[in-house]
Amino acid sequence: MIWLKAFHVIAMVTWFAGLFYLPRLFVYHADTADAPGLERFEIMERRLFALMTIGGAATIILGVLMIVAAPAYLKMGWLHVKLSLVTLLIAYHAYCYRLMRDFAERRNVRSSKWYRVFNEIPSLLLVGIVVLAVVKPF
Ligand code: HEM
Repeated sequence: MIWLKAFHVIAMVTWFAGLFYLPRLFVYHADTADAPGLERFEIMERRLFALMTIGGAATIILGVLMIVAAPAYLKMGWLHVKLSLVTLLIAYHAYCYRLMRDFAERRNVRSSKWYRVFNEIPSLLLVGIVVLAVVKPF
């Protein structure tokens, strides 16, 4: 179990690296107008999205494997709330894909200011999820 947990946390770190950096790329992308710059951001975003999806999938698979190994987890209140926040995180991840598609099809309508605010959401979810997973307050 301890190995599953260790790789669960490692995978989570790689997932968050992408969740923090991809919206940051959107901030600069929204202020870019030149063709070479737009193409460069599209390539960077596409590659980063692929990597962060691998990190997200590994985090979830390893988390589920820990529950399979110890089903008693399912009775724990902290895990119920944690999984609700994880669901929001998955929705955020999926929305990043949609925004990335909007940029690639030159259909982005949002400002860099909007993306700066959007970029803060993963930090809030990270604090909530990690406190629940480590402190297990209920
Ligand atoms: C479907 C997704 C997930 C499931 C099913 C899941 C499930 C679990 C389980 C069962 C544990 C072991 C708890 C323990 O015995 O201490 C755990 C630990 C942990 N999880 Fe997750 N998790 C998921 C997603 C995440 C995400 C997205 C994060 C990060 C933001 C995260 C962060 C952690 C941390 C930091 C620990 C270690 C807690 C400790 O050692 O005390 N998990 N997770």
